[in-house]
Amino acid sequence: MPLTPEAAPLTGTPTGTPLGTPLGLPRLAFGGDYNPEQWPESVWAEDVRLMREAGVTMVSVGIFSWALLEPAPGVHEFGWLDRLLELLHENGIRVDLATPTVAPPAWFYREHPEALPVTADGVRHEFGSRGAICHSSPAYRAAAADITTRLAERYAAHPALALWHVHNEYGVPVSACYCDTCAAHFRRWLAATYETVDGVNEAWGTAFWGQRYADLEQINPPRLTPTVGNPAQELDYRRFADATMRENFVAERDILHRLSPGIPVTTNFMTALSQCDTVDYWAWGREVDLVSNDHYLITDGRRTHVNLAMTADLTRSVAGGAPWLLMEHATSGVSWQPRNPAKAPGEMARNSLAHVARGSDGAMFFQWRQSRRGAEKFHSAMLPHAGTESRVWREVVELGAAVDSLSTLKGTRTVADVAVLWDWQSWWAQSLQWRPSEDHDARERADSFYEALYDRHLTVDFAHPEADLSAYPLVVVPALYLMTQAAGDNLRAYVEQGGTLVVSYFSGIVDEHDAVHPGAYPGPLRDVLGLTVEEFSPLLAGQQVRVTAVDGSALVGDVWTEFVVPRGAETVWTYADGPAAGLPAVTRNRLGEGSAWYVSTRLGAGDLDALLGPACEDAGIAPRAELPRDVEVVRRSGESGTYLFTVNHTAAEVKVPVDAPGTELLTGERAAGRLAVPAGAVRVVRLDG
Ligand code: GAL
Repeated sequence: MPLTPEAAPLTGTPTGTPLGTPLGLPRLAFGGDYNPEQWPESVWAEDVRLMREAGVTMVSVGIFSWALLEPAPGVHEFGWLDRLLELLHENGIRVDLATPTVAPPAWFYREHPEALPVTADGVRHEFGSRGAICHSSPAYRAAAADITTRLAERYAAHPALALWHVHNEYGVPVSACYCDTCAAHFRRWLAATYETVDGVNEAWGTAFWGQRYADLEQINPPRLTPTVGNPAQELDYRRFADATMRENFVAERDILHRLSPGIPVTTNFMTALSQCDTVDYWAWGREVDLVSNDHYLITDGRRTHVNLAMTADLTRSVAGGAPWLLMEHATSGVSWQPRNPAKAPGEMARNSLAHVARGSDGAMFFQWRQSRRGAEKFHSAMLPHAGTESRVWREVVELGAAVDSLSTLKGTRTVADVAVLWDWQSWWAQSLQWRPSEDHDARERADSFYEALYDRHLTVDFAHPEADLSAYPLVVVPALYLMTQAAGDNLRAYVEQGGTLVVSYFSGIVDEHDAVHPGAYPGPLRDVLGLTVEEFSPLLAGQQVRVTAVDGSALVGDVWTEFVVPRGAETVWTYADGPAAGLPAVTRNRLGEGSAWYVSTRLGAGDLDALLGPACEDAGIAPRAELPRDVEVVRRSGESGTYLFTVNHTAAEVKVPVDAPGTELLTGERAAGRLAVPAGAVRVVRLDG
């Protein structure tokens, strides 16, 4: 099979707009990955009986089943899957049927050892886990297309089929392969992107350190080098690797569309996981019919529900605001972190329903029945080792009923207040080596700004830097190091037309080739912010600076300072000490009808609030009701009405204002004025009218 030399767009795509075939379930999706091949067939009847007891509406089947479906080359055994789909259908459970292409069988690698991926330092992975794939391999592509075709031909018309689930989590555990097949594929990608070798030399700045190429054939993937490699080459390799995975997704999707028209196709994303920062989901969002996402709590001491909310908001944004589907999360602990705590009573329901509040049309889990064998036997499941006499099971059954009671909100959209700019490619560029400070972390900036907005009870949409921002009164730019001139122009127009912008340090520094914009920093933002930055002066580990306002109030910054020269902007906060003592730390520039704030040091989420307060005033965003910061209030709205979600993560009851009378859907009670939400509970009011 020929490899298509299609190039990825260098700057991603402004918005993801899914292709849009809706998921044809009458109710919200509730269920999980179902791997019955791990159990004797005699267990299946019990599985299905318990699924009905829990209110399961859909299960994901076959994700890792290639070795069973095709035990030897060209030998197919579909009988067990026929029986399984029939059993599910008889019991009214719909199927999200996977192509098993994330786990090729052992025989495949015997025949094609070259399809095993190679690391940057030249080590070839072995068979024996999952996801060991060189996405450029013609043999892999042909085999994946073949098994996908056979599944589609057999099950396209099956009445249980609701959704196709291609592969599993592209980008993990292997995000890029560095083998010779990939090298040749990369050269074709470069030819399609830059046409000539001189185009590559120019884009990569190969005049530096004598890296000039005379011929595209001389170029390899960025393999192990004695010291830091060419950053623009690294960045392009990320784009190439992402585009190569997407080629394979699109190939499978197109087979499914052709043979199984009318059934939506998805692949499960991991939008906000920092271990999976290798996929440009803005580009992927427009290739799927339905955006679906996996989310697991990262127990690193931070507030897990804030990261969950951020992930859900980002996923919805990748879906262009349309409803999406939480494809996997955990009923309790996971098994792949250093320490894997169990969820507290009620936490699973808060997690699931917070995803629904933020746009998911359902809540699915990994996995239905907890495994006895294999790498994930200590990972929680809907039906745990402890069986039905367990808290997890009782909570799963309760949650099934709760999700069912929300069915009318299917198809409604979450209402956002503000936008945060987000770009995977900028994140890639910023994580390359030899930057002003290794303590600066782009992802941390995004997390902290998000947290500060969350604490103000503002619902966030994420937006590509070149997207239309005119709907948002406030736009936040957390450390967007890579910024095209087009993005800068977009921000300027946004402010001129009345928007309020808040920009973090280390934004607008380089273009799409990781080349510094000409002139003083921050190239495309100088006029918007009304300032220049003469020099960065990052702080030493543990060093802090004080930042003061005219009224004497003080904030504490760390990690970063810089020498800001106002050129029209007013100084709002000043460095009281440190390398930039006496210079502006926080500024505000009025431009056209709007204003643009700039913060040149790292403030924690709490201190950022001191700046977001006045920025919200500029934007005309009124303060939200006085609620503890760990109470989430989110709205979904659409044809079937407006739904007011409250997720109370605190240990005390809260009284939440309800702006119109309505019915609380989980209890059936009437709600008006103020609604009491018990400690740890979720309430969803469908407003009358
Ligand atoms: C996901 C993966 C599942 C399972 C789960 C465990 O990333 O798709 O197959 O491994 O993690 O948390």
